[in-house]
Amino acid sequence: MRLGGRHLTKDDASLVEAALAVLDANWMGAATLPSPNLYPHQWSWDSAFIAIGLVRVDQARAESELRSLFAGQWTNGLLPHIVFSGDREYFPGPDFWGTDGAMPAPEHPRTSGIVQPPVHATAAWHVYCHALDKRRALRFLEELMPRLVAWHEYLYRERTRDGQAIVEIWHPWESGMDNSPLWDGPLARIAPAAEEIPAYERTDLRVALPAERPSAEEYDRYAYLVQQFRDAEYSSERIRETAAFAVWDVLFNSLLVQSNRDLARIAETLGLDPHPYEEWAEATATALDALLWVEAESAYLDFDLIAGRHIDAVTAATFTPLFAGIPSPARAERMAARLAGSMVTVDAGSAVAGVAPDDPSFQPSLYWRGPIWVNINWLLCHGLLRYGYVDEARRISDGIGALVRRSGFREHYNPLTLAGQGAEQFAWTAALVLDLVLERSEEEGGRQ
Ligand code: GLC
Repeated sequence: MRLGGRHLTKDDASLVEAALAVLDANWMGAATLPSPNLYPHQWSWDSAFIAIGLVRVDQARAESELRSLFAGQWTNGLLPHIVFSGDREYFPGPDFWGTDGAMPAPEHPRTSGIVQPPVHATAAWHVYCHALDKRRALRFLEELMPRLVAWHEYLYRERTRDGQAIVEIWHPWESGMDNSPLWDGPLARIAPAAEEIPAYERTDLRVALPAERPSAEEYDRYAYLVQQFRDAEYSSERIRETAAFAVWDVLFNSLLVQSNRDLARIAETLGLDPHPYEEWAEATATALDALLWVEAESAYLDFDLIAGRHIDAVTAATFTPLFAGIPSPARAERMAARLAGSMVTVDAGSAVAGVAPDDPSFQPSLYWRGPIWVNINWLLCHGLLRYGYVDEARRISDGIGALVRRSGFREHYNPLTLAGQGAEQFAWTAALVLDLVLERSEEEGGRQ
């Protein structure tokens, strides 16, 4: 199925066609690469977002996207952040990760050795809900369920401490927001000696503007942390003992809460007991509420486990507990008021900047330090909707549509000039715009 018998305005139809063209061009046969030049393999949370958009036009491809990602899952449940396909040049490639000899890693496909935010059960549930062939989608859920459970079990078993139901990340890349100001403090503390930094050669700078990429100092620390994981032979126990970077991240845990809620719905649909997953969701939501909410900031803040304190940085990701229905309505109201400060106007709509333009760390072109990202806006749009902020949510979906019409399907956008930045032909931007436009057309169709 492509566009079927849908009634779209001419403008929406051409946007949808253009989004489909990006997804077709990035399709590798079983999964979609994020962007042909900069990211030529399969990425974990990218594929989840891509499946969310794809199912609205092609159920088989959406299923294949997640199936192909889970083919890289380790026997201990770890879902790697990159599943390598072929030998397309990329740093850090499979040899640098050195996971081949690591006990729980599969021999094939080759993978990285870290994770990304767990939005996969949410994606799988979305695939089921929007699938046209429900019998087939049910078989797909059946197949994926044990893998999703193993993934969450890994997180609760190997990424928690002191009996807390909140999971930790060990590398900025695990957050999905590589050079966010969130990591400035934790990374500043890590000062590897020159001989402790493994030799590496960046490939990103050959295909992207250096001014839009993380710094050399950041990359040295990224590489150093990977070396630590290799030295520990990817044993979680050993990594936890020596971790130079360990953070309770708001976005990661919020997505886990929602994924648990969706896992419970998947279980119910399959006639299984949903309670274990509901309990995980509640336990993590309660922990997040208790441990990460900072009253004086009216916000949930990340927690640096090595320094033993909250990280004093507010980014767009700070507001993602709304997506998982975590805050009370009173807290949500305070968050929504604060979120307004990060909104920029895009034609008749608006979009949330990665960092508020009046924040001292704001940099409009520098990756996760200010630009508008479509995945975060998609999460916040649904979060606002969940709490009844319908107009605000609408404005975001209008703003994202307008941004893409102006500047194409880019990795991110400058909140001051609205120019497209970073990688071109960026898959999750295309997929989530598809989802937003088609969701809206269904709502409007339903009202007619
Ligand atoms: C960058 C982003 C990350 C994304 C990946 C592939 O590393 O920071 O979130 O998954 O690129 O698009």
